Amino acid sequence: MKVLMVCLGNICRSPLAEGILKKKLEEKKIDGLVDSAGLINYHRGSQPDHRSIAVARKYSIDITTQQSRPFDKSDLQKFDYIFAMDSSNYENLLEYATTDEESDKIFMLLNFAGLGEKRSVPDPYYGNLTDFENVYQLLDKACSLVAEKLKVQSSQFDLA
Ligand code: 4NP
Repeated sequence: MKVLMVCLGNICRSPLAEGILKKKLEEKKIDGLVDSAGLINYHRGSQPDHRSIAVARKYSIDITTQQSRPFDKSDLQKFDYIFAMDSSNYENLLEYATTDEESDKIFMLLNFAGLGEKRSVPDPYYGNLTDFENVYQLLDKACSLVAEKLKVQSSQFDLA
């Protein structure tokens, strides 16, 4: 199961989502690869934002080795699930898809998790540490639900 988390800069939300989901998959012993990317290449090569690093560290998740990278069209072939943090990311990702098979891999994260139709993970970039903490809590809830769904799907896959 290969999962790609996508936001705008790949320095605030999607690196946190990557770190959180990786930990949940490890805890549940689900085989999978989790990566993240951004829709702009402005932060290419940068570490996650220091506030994302701090909030992740608070919950014993190390995201310091991540480096921002831009989304690439080839990601649509490489990954099974592509999760957009907000509706603008979602619309941008759909523009890259050229087949139904590709567009069917793209979801709003919170929609897939069952936490709300068309609900976005708010962009904390211009916010404060409390905004980052709130983003963490929302992503933690979403990633638990995503991990549950992936566990069910991977066990069905094993049976097939
Ligand atoms: P992210 O947050 O999409 O959650 O990584 C942002 C990071 C950078 C910018 C905007 C949002 N920016 O405009 O540079």
